[in-house]
Amino acid sequence: MTSFSALYDSTLGKKYIMALTGAGLFGFVVVHMLGNLQLFLGPEPLNRYAVFLKSKPGLLWGARLGLLLLVFLHILTAVQLTLRNRAARPEKYDRSKPYRASYASRTLFLGGLALFAFVVYHLMHFTVGTVDPSYLKLRDAANRHDVYRMTILGFSHPGVSAFYIACMAVLCLHLSHGVGSAFQSIGFKNKQTAVWIDRVSKILGVVVFLGNSSMPLAVLAGILR
Ligand code: HEM
Repeated sequence: MTSFSALYDSTLGKKYIMALTGAGLFGFVVVHMLGNLQLFLGPEPLNRYAVFLKSKPGLLWGARLGLLLLVFLHILTAVQLTLRNRAARPEKYDRSKPYRASYASRTLFLGGLALFAFVVYHLMHFTVGTVDPSYLKLRDAANRHDVYRMTILGFSHPGVSAFYIACMAVLCLHLSHGVGSAFQSIGFKNKQTAVWIDRVSKILGVVVFLGNSSMPLAVLAGILR
């Protein structure tokens, strides 16, 4: 027990927590994106899938609580690590040394906050129905919640779609850096693997950006209606 709390308190332990919770959240983002891409297959598969997801309330709420715990731990640990970093920083920067942190690294923390705000808006938009309560009342011919129509209506507002695409760019940046940094934390990154890990992280970020942005873009372009 003592060794567990010592590990939890250590910077390395916190980096492991960031890596593991980040991996779990990344898994959710990819599975959610693949599920949502059924939008391109039409209302039937997407609405059937949405009913399937909600057909086992125990599983659904277990997954929701798990997700909430991952988000909570990921943010709490990010704040703790940032405060520690700040406390350990020398009074003045040594300006003779080049600043090597990438753009993504410097914006990782702010990007994370922006993504949290996005998720809050997204839940109000498509899950709780605060943005437009009529979205949750939409029914298809089989009297199922018409998630297809809700998504099309949601993305037919150019401002809302632009906001989603901008948030997906932030997510892309966050993943491009976060995935690489997770591999570093678990000790997989070394001189030989670094180039590949960074390359794969960037590719994953871009794939998630393109997959998610394709949906609002297709609605705006009139391809999905
Ligand atoms: C364009 C991209 C996206 C689309 C089209 C989309 C679509 C949806 C839809 C339709 C729902 C409600 C499902 C239902 O009630 O049956 C939903 C829920 C949700 N989405 Fe997304 N989503 C997108 C991106 C994201 C991203 C990037 C995240 C996280 C970073 C995310 C996180 C969530 C969460 C946490 C829920 C609630 C799941 C639950 O019911 O517990 N979504 N999304």
